[in-house]
Amino acid sequence: MSSSKRTVAAVILAAGRGSRMRSKKSKLLHTVTGRPIISYPVQLAIDVGAQRIVIVVGHQRDEVEAILRRDFPKAPLEFVVQSEQRGTGHAVSCARNALEDFDGDVLILSGDVPCLTNALLARLLERQTQTLSLVTMKVALPNQYGRLLRDDEGRAKCIVEYRDATPEQRELEELNAGIYCASARFLFDSLKKLTPDNAQGEFYLTDLVQIAHEQKEPAGVVTLSLDESVVTLGVNDRQDLAKVEEIIRARVVNELMLGGVTVRSPKRTIVGSSVTIGEDSVLEADVTIRGHTHIGADVTVGQGSVIENSQIGDGVSILPYCHIANAIIGAGCSVGPFARLREGSVLRENVKVGNFVETKKTTLKAGAKASHLSYLGDATVGEKANIGAGTITCNYDGYKKSKTVIGPGAFIGSDTQLVAPVEVGAGAVVGAGTTVTQ
Ligand code: UD1
Ligand code: MG
Repeated sequence: MSSSKRTVAAVILAAGRGSRMRSKKSKLLHTVTGRPIISYPVQLAIDVGAQRIVIVVGHQRDEVEAILRRDFPKAPLEFVVQSEQRGTGHAVSCARNALEDFDGDVLILSGDVPCLTNALLARLLERQTQTLSLVTMKVALPNQYGRLLRDDEGRAKCIVEYRDATPEQRELEELNAGIYCASARFLFDSLKKLTPDNAQGEFYLTDLVQIAHEQKEPAGVVTLSLDESVVTLGVNDRQDLAKVEEIIRARVVNELMLGGVTVRSPKRTIVGSSVTIGEDSVLEADVTIRGHTHIGADVTVGQGSVIENSQIGDGVSILPYCHIANAIIGAGCSVGPFARLREGSVLRENVKVGNFVETKKTTLKAGAKASHLSYLGDATVGEKANIGAGTITCNYDGYKKSKTVIGPGAFIGSDTQLVAPVEVGAGAVVGAGTTVTQ
């Protein structure tokens, strides 16, 4: 009987050290598309509606906990400590007290497997029996994985770890992916029965498969083909980290394309998972868009541009090689090439910011233009004002920052220095090469 309508809790194994990363930092805190690896299984647990999420921590547990509490302030997270690594079965049993009164299904995920999908977990929950269900996979280099053995009727019989396997068992291609769903009662009853009677002297979670078979309630199995198996890839070293980054990046970019965004060179485009982009926008090659960024419809982002934590309106044209961070750009603006919009830059509608222009804490009102070679910092530029080539707001006198205000329709000639604090009136004309001090 399918028990997919029962309540779900998640246990995420995150006690490992990850020594193959050769890093000061816990493996789980290394990032994939800008988010820590451990945040991916936590997000999945939230997405499948887990009512409790128990994270088994050990190595660098304070850092892991702090980051997850920061990133998921509202999630029902609980942290339990496994101080000594005595195997996957022992790790899950560390969650026993936390789930004492829980009577649904327990998803068991690895903290270092970030590419899993909701769809796969849904299949796993559907295959759930009275005991447990698991995912098996095929991979090109099957060495270190556990092998699934089946009985004569094809039911899951047991899992044999590579180190414990006979030469014939090592030939088996159906591998344990390390992703499970178990009924809480079966899980915690069976964990008590485990013994470290194996090559590694550990408590193997995988022995539950044999216990289920002996109880005549064999485990349900979701079998993945070689192609499908990429989602189960774990991060053990920095090569895996790069592979996983590519997989998740491709997933985000594919979703954008399905949503009506043209991506000229998908493999050369990096878009974070919290970015949204409207229809008929175009991303040229080598574009990176990160953080909480929203880009409207009909926007072109030129080659080599980097955009972070910014809001970009409809119909904006970003020419090649711009860096835009913490900025707001109104509809119909044109930016670049080679422009740098820093924090607090606000362009209202139809503003033009051209080549080699840098802005910081500066607002350009509708229709204003700064087309070439300028620094505009702590400034307000009025509607339709024109900033000539080479204009600089001298906003810093060595002690403090001061403001420049330029009125609507003003014309600032080329190579002008505006020594702040300073104000230029509406419609004023400043001749080329002027140093305005008051
Ligand atoms: C495990 C499975 C193997 C499967 C493979 C898939 C067992 C006995 N074997 O092997 O069948 O093919 O995963 O990747 O389960 N962990 C702890 N505490 C521990 C031990 C492990 O938290 O005491 C965590 C690790 O940090 C990791 C996860 O559990 O996130 C898996 O442990 P790992 O040692 O990598 O298991 P494998 O030997 O790879
Ligand atoms: Mg492993």
